[in-house]
Amino acid sequence: MTQALTCRSIAKTLGGKQILKGLDLAVKPAEVVSLLGASGSGKTTLLRMIAGLMDPDAGEIALGERVVWSPALNIPAERRRIGMVFQDYALWPHMSVAENLAFGLRPQRLPAAEARARIDHALGATRMSPFRDRRPQDLSGGQQQRVAIARCLAARPALMLFDEPLSNLDAALREDMRTEMMSLVRREGITVVYVTHDQGEAMAMSDRIAVMRAGEIAQFDTPQRLYDAPADPFVAGFIGGFSLMAGEGCGGRFVPAGGETALLTDGSVADGAAVLVVRPEDVRPAEAHPATRIRGRVLNAAFHGRCWRLLVKTGGGLLRLDWPSHALAGDLITFSLPPARCRVLPAPATSNGKDTHGHPVDPAHTDRLVPGLHGRGRRGFHHRAGGRADP
Ligand SMILES: Nc1ncnc2c1ncn2[C@@H]1O[C@H](COP(=O)(O)OP(=O)(O)O)[C@@H](O)[C@H]1O
Ligand SMILES: [Mg+2]
Repeated sequence: MTQALTCRSIAKTLGGKQILKGLDLAVKPAEVVSLLGASGSGKTTLLRMIAGLMDPDAGEIALGERVVWSPALNIPAERRRIGMVFQDYALWPHMSVAENLAFGLRPQRLPAAEARARIDHALGATRMSPFRDRRPQDLSGGQQQRVAIARCLAARPALMLFDEPLSNLDAALREDMRTEMMSLVRREGITVVYVTHDQGEAMAMSDRIAVMRAGEIAQFDTPQRLYDAPADPFVAGFIGGFSLMAGEGCGGRFVPAGGETALLTDGSVADGAAVLVVRPEDVRPAEAHPATRIRGRVLNAAFHGRCWRLLVKTGGGLLRLDWPSHALAGDLITFSLPPARCRVLPAPATSNGKDTHGHPVDPAHTDRLVPGLHGRGRRGFHHRAGGRADP
């Protein structure tokens, strides 16, 4: 199948720093793909190059069969048929909603009736028809965002690019808008590349997610595969609020640091430094899986409705666990994990507790593990993207 978008070996250096390092990305027609990565990982840079607002240093970009950028060729932005939606909606303040849409269509020189039909359709699809004569400043943030999306839709783009479009909206509205936006692009069959640093958002809306790490794609997979089989500790740390337990692979088993007994795992485990991916919801009382018992001391317990979320100190670092009964700070507990869910990954090469990209890999690193210290931790605390077998 012809891909809707193909980026081949895209490289870019800015200010003496290599921002993108030979990145490859292919998006299928009508697919919604998220670029998920920390701030500064190169998401916006890649989006701007796809749109034609910035030139790569090397590589090739194609829309369908049509190459739009190569070292020998550069199709200008306005001839790429790409729509862009940003967090600042970039609406003309002195024009009404309908005029903003009409202005966006001007470069296409459509017959008046065709332009009118497209504007009506786009306003209808975004539920903005009743507001067509309003000025942007008389609309709410969510409504302004709908106008920006309608303006894109009316132009019938081959590809729509979103750069953190919801980050200016409050949390409740953000969730409504993302549901609405995604049902809209799916109904219209539009191919989407969606940039976000919010893993919950990426999980909820994407067919596939490209997890970006410092100008490279660490893993490109469906949300479920990322959740069940993160390719490396970096991805595991980025997705789902998982904890990473330090230890080592030894004779096909995982031996947690700190003198625990070896654990059975889901498959092959290479000898050497390793981390065990612990998903909070996989944790069971000790008797459930005698082959994977781990002891730890409770540091904190928070009631979560159907379980208690514990922060537990083990020999292999701090872990977040879902626990069926109340435990008190200071309690020693023994828990177990279903062997089939024990995914072991080679520990990345470290220097000073950072991996080669400067990200902390020490599972005891509280920044990553203590819920509430930053956005990712907080979200991981509540968000559960994968399926869960009932205990
Ligand atoms: N014009 C520029 N000159 C120098 N550095 C830049 C420029 N634009 C972006 N960068 C740097 O490139 C890196 C990636 O930026 P960006 O693509 O905006 O990341 P993201 O969107 O993932 O947050 C950042 O370190 C940023 O500081
Ligand atoms: Mg950005």
